[in-house]
Parts: sequence; C-alpha cells; structure tokens
Amino acid sequence: MTNVLATNLTALNVAAVPFAIRAEKSSDIAARERLLDACFGEGRHARTCQRLRDGRAPAEGLAFSAVRQGRLVGTVRLWHVDAGGRAALVLGPLAVDSSCREFGLGGALMRAALAEAAARGHGAVILLGDAPYYARFGFTADKMADLALPGPFERDRLLGLELRDGALDGAAGLIVATGAAAKPARADRPRLRRAA
Ligand SMILES: CC(C)(COP(=O)(O)OP(=O)(O)OC[C@H]1O[C@@H](n2cnc3c(N)ncnc32)[C@H](O)[C@@H]1OP(=O)(O)O)[C@@H](O)C(=O)NCCC(=O)NCCS
Repeated sequence: MTNVLATNLTALNVAAVPFAIRAEKSSDIAARERLLDACFGEGRHARTCQRLRDGRAPAEGLAFSAVRQGRLVGTVRLWHVDAGGRAALVLGPLAVDSSCREFGLGGALMRAALAEAAARGHGAVILLGDAPYYARFGFTADKMADLALPGPFERDRLLGLELRDGALDGAAGLIVATGAAAKPARADRPRLRRAA
C-alpha cells in the first residue's frame, strides 16, 4: 500500500514540474549524447538510420531539446534526404529520459518538430520506428513499399507522413542523405592564431 502511494506521489511530482521544448543549443550536445546512449546503447552508431546522419548537420531549425529544471530530458532531430527521387526529412532519434516518460513529452517533441517542418515548407517526413507509437502522429507504411534504407531494416517499421499531399507519390529507390556537412566539434576546429 505504502509503495503504491509513494509511486503515485512521485509520478504527480514529476508531472507537476513543467517541461520546455526549445531549439537545440551546442551546449546540449554532451547531455544529448548521454541520453541517446542510455536509450539505445552504444551500438546505436551501427544502426542503419545512422548512415543517413553520419557527417551531416540536421535540417535548419529542426533539432529540438526538451528541458526540465535546466536538465536535458528529451531530443528529436530531422535530416534532409532524397527518398527515391522525392525530397523528404528523416526523423530521429527521438528519445525521452526514462524518468520523464508517459507524461506526453515524446508527443510534444513530435508535434513541435512536425509543426516546424510543415511551417518551413517541407513536404514529407520518414522514420524507422514502432508503428503503434508513430501512428498517432499520422505515420503509416503507405507509399513506403518501394523505398529502402542503406542497410538492413525491418520493412514494417519504415513509416512516412506527408505534410503536403502527394509529396511521396512515386517515391521509389534508396533513401540517401542530402543534408549539409556537420560543422566540426569545437575541439576539432583549427585554432586561429591571434595577430601579434
Ligand atoms: C518512445 C518514447 C520517445 C516515448 O516518450 P514519452 O514521453 O513516454 O511519450 P508520450 O508520453 O508522448 O506517449 C506515451 C504513450 O506512448 C506509448 N508508447 C511509448 N512507446 C511506445 C512504443 N514503442 N510502441 C507503442 N506505444 C508506445 C505509451 O504506452 C503511452 O501510451 P498512452 O498514451 O496510451 O498511455 C520514449 O519511450 C523513449 O525515449 N523510448 C526509448 C527510445 C525509443 O524507443 N525511441 C523511439 C524509437 S522508435
């Protein structure tokens, strides 16, 4: 009985503390990487979708962080791709800290990201994920049958959402990265010599 009460109070306290969703900052990167390691394990870098992100920057204005009491607790980013001849974005990874799940934060991150992608004129978003979760945002396997990822993937997890009707009509072939090159991390940049 006591345990149930304690659990419920903890849940209420977590729910009562507000979250903010904002554009990702460079100072978020270390915490974002720790969150992704915790959610997906270090093997995440070998996943097929990572091939669409290697060495690329996310699409302009489409990297978001969820922050609670100054701590990063959620992340989502979108990336430019060519999806079998159609311009699109690939979404991922989406992750929420395990202490903050089931309060609508994942949904809030998804809706913020999709609304901003639509506002910026993007036509379609593709992802590899669990259909029972992503169906609530409108993702389906429709128009995905003739698309492939650059590596092994489970066909029933390849999902798409048209932000503009017909944006994925006729999409057929390999999904390939088209985003701009990522800027080198600060520590990797050559130091400028100060003039004497
Ligand atoms: C998936 C994830 C982002 C959801 O975050 P969240 O903040 O808990 O999401 P929300 O609170 O908006 O939604 C919770 C709902 O989604 C459901 N849900 C969560 N993960 C799900 C999944 N994989 N399949 C189906 N439903 C799922 C929950 O059961 C809950 O359902 P309800 O609304 O009927 O109660 C979070 O669980 C997470 O980070 N998981 C680990 C990383 C991951 O799997 N990322 C997605 C890659 S496919």
